[in-house]
Amino acid sequence: MRAHIVLAHPERKSLNARLARMSEETLSEHGWATTLSDLYSMGFDPCDRPEHYATRANPDAFHVQTEQRFHAERGTTPSDVAAEVGKLSQADFLVVHFPLWWFGMPAMLKGWMDRVFVYGSIYRSTMRHDTGLFRGKKMIACVTTGSSAEACAHDGVEGDTRLHLWPILYSYRYIGFDVLQPEILHGIGSATYLEAGEDGVNSLDVLAERWRATLRNIETRSRVAYNRDCDFESSKRLRPEAPELSPFISHAAKI
Ligand SMILES: Cc1cc2nc3c(=O)[nH]c(=O)nc-3n(C[C@H](O)[C@H](O)[C@H](O)COP(=O)(O)O)c2cc1C
Repeated sequence: MRAHIVLAHPERKSLNARLARMSEETLSEHGWATTLSDLYSMGFDPCDRPEHYATRANPDAFHVQTEQRFHAERGTTPSDVAAEVGKLSQADFLVVHFPLWWFGMPAMLKGWMDRVFVYGSIYRSTMRHDTGLFRGKKMIACVTTGSSAEACAHDGVEGDTRLHLWPILYSYRYIGFDVLQPEILHGIGSATYLEAGEDGVNSLDVLAERWRATLRNIETRSRVAYNRDCDFESSKRLRPEAPELSPFISHAAKI
């Protein structure tokens, strides 16, 4: 069994980097072979741009999906992307580590998804959702926030972090993954978190151990529920009798 770990954080002393190392260590202890994409230290270019393609399907206008598909079909996907696709494809389990930045993911991770979820090979209209390439494989996001759990709650001033994560995780569902409930570690960054208590344990240690326990029990982690393909009409709208599983796909508009 192989796990691939993606880290989107520029600092190796950060909590996110520590959690990614813990993922490698803990999964290895449990018999997984692991690979890691530490995107900043790799110098991964998160921008798809014409310079990545020596030849072009359309030299007159750069259309990302056209070029991705053209090169995927010829086996000429840019080498940095092809290497990432290889690691993803070989993995049975994907772990993605990132801090919440401006209510979303860091641009580095967004760009990795823009480039590595290649149109034509990772997804296409006949290969998404229930028929996604990675169906049968699990993924989990481990996310840190600067704000407190209270501020990130459903009635908190930051808005519900689980809703902020919904569109991000839906991209992984789109390409077929079974998305596990994310681990969200709140309140990282305030000075109190860096100070050890009387027992010598600081709050970061407590949060890191929470993540270790999650990994150890990953087989029992519940999944995010998504509508199945058959819940939608041919017009792509939710059938009246289909369950409503999130505010993003609902019978009545929420806003
Ligand atoms: C550009 C930027 C944007 C941020 N936006 C948010 C945010 O929207 N919500 C939040 O709770 N924290 C936000 N933060 C704080 C980070 O989430 C926090 O510093 C990080 O989770 C701490 O983990 P680390 O020590 O691994 O960096 C932001 C930080 C940066 C640098």
